[in-house]
Amino acid sequence: MHSLSSLTALGLVVLALLNSTSAAPATPAACVISKASDVSNCLSSTNIVIQGPFTVPAETKLDLSGLKDGTSVTVKDTITWAKSSTFTKADFLFTLGGSKITFDGTGATFHGNGQLYWDTKGTNGVDNKPKFFKVLTTGSSLIKGITIKNSPVHVFSIGGSDTTLDHITVDNTDGDQLSGGKPLGHNTDGFDVSATGITIQYSTVQNQDDCLAINDGSNIQFLHNTCSGGHGISIGSIASGKTVDGVTVTSCSVSNSENGVRIKTISGATGGYVKNVNYTDVTLSNISKYGIVIEQDYLNGGPTGTPTGGIPISAVTLSGIRGTVSSSATYSTYILCAACSGFSFSDINITPKHSNCTGVSSTLAGC
Ligand SMILES: *[C@@H]1O[C@H](CO)[C@@H](O)[C@H](O)[C@H]1NC(C)=O
Ligand SMILES: *[C@@H]1O[C@H](CO)[C@@H](O)[C@H](O)[C@H]1NC(C)=O
Ligand SMILES: *[C@@H]1O[C@H](CO)[C@@H](O)[C@H](O)[C@H]1NC(C)=O
Repeated sequence: MHSLSSLTALGLVVLALLNSTSAAPATPAACVISKASDVSNCLSSTNIVIQGPFTVPAETKLDLSGLKDGTSVTVKDTITWAKSSTFTKADFLFTLGGSKITFDGTGATFHGNGQLYWDTKGTNGVDNKPKFFKVLTTGSSLIKGITIKNSPVHVFSIGGSDTTLDHITVDNTDGDQLSGGKPLGHNTDGFDVSATGITIQYSTVQNQDDCLAINDGSNIQFLHNTCSGGHGISIGSIASGKTVDGVTVTSCSVSNSENGVRIKTISGATGGYVKNVNYTDVTLSNISKYGIVIEQDYLNGGPTGTPTGGIPISAVTLSGIRGTVSSSATYSTYILCAACSGFSFSDINITPKHSNCTGVSSTLAGC
């Protein structure tokens, strides 16, 4: 026997169940990181807020690798890393890893206190400078809206796969200050990429080394970015056994930098290749060495001047590379190839024009 009231109560329960199953899944309450020691408590949460301002103590990293699938990480205000005395270039101040991660910087700042480390020598000096941000995300992850200020050396080291970096700001302008005639900041690469399926877009880099350096990987896009103060938009230096296949650079600008567009393979390196590379619509201004440089003789201590063909470079399309090099620049276009093929250059207008092209057709545009 059911009373009317118990039937009504059953109906309400059924309605409540229907309601709860048809509504969007609720976002779990945020796990808040407001000091470095909170990280371990939040690693099992899929909704993490890094709530500044706070200072990460010396000899401490924020390691957010191994996040749960689909985790959202939101950063608010400024997170500052105290200077460490034991870290080296093998260490990262911040690591992000996991699948389907959304990292939203909301315009907040990660401050690395690089000015306390810089000695004009970067990774070539005393090995006491940590890198900043290791990316190990996969599966359609997104990293956006963070400002990185004063990185001791390299800023983003991108591994992982299938990740977009959007509206990132790298501000290492303080490293332009001279000491003994040299900028204090050195080896402050913006984005180092050894990964597959990476898009970097609508970002700004002001630094003292490569804006982008692709060392290994495939399907890499660099779109609508602004580079200033550094060494240009680079592929390489490519070492033995490394392969780069499929790079698209579109609608970018490079100013006040040593180079504009650059591809370099290491002298004597073998067993790798660079292929399918397109640079389209790249604007240059105040370039001090080379507007376009493709060289197969690179050595860190100084290029040899004699190209080697163990890492062939093929299917390179340059289109719409325009602007200026400084009057004292070495060459507007410099190509030094032993094994280069399938180069297609068009609409190259870099002034003042002064080129030197070896190992490619002398009728190549820009040569
Ligand atoms: C480069 O451009 C060529 C010619 O427009 C196109 O066929 C090719 O798919 C492009 N490759 C990449 C990696 O963007
Ligand atoms: C040109 O770029 C250099 C850095 O390569 C910089 O020191 C100089 O101030 C720049 N000149 C102008 C006019 O911006
Ligand atoms: C062109 O570059 C090559 C390799 O660096 C160099 O040996 C040669 O002297 C240069 N040519 C001119 C005309 O400067």
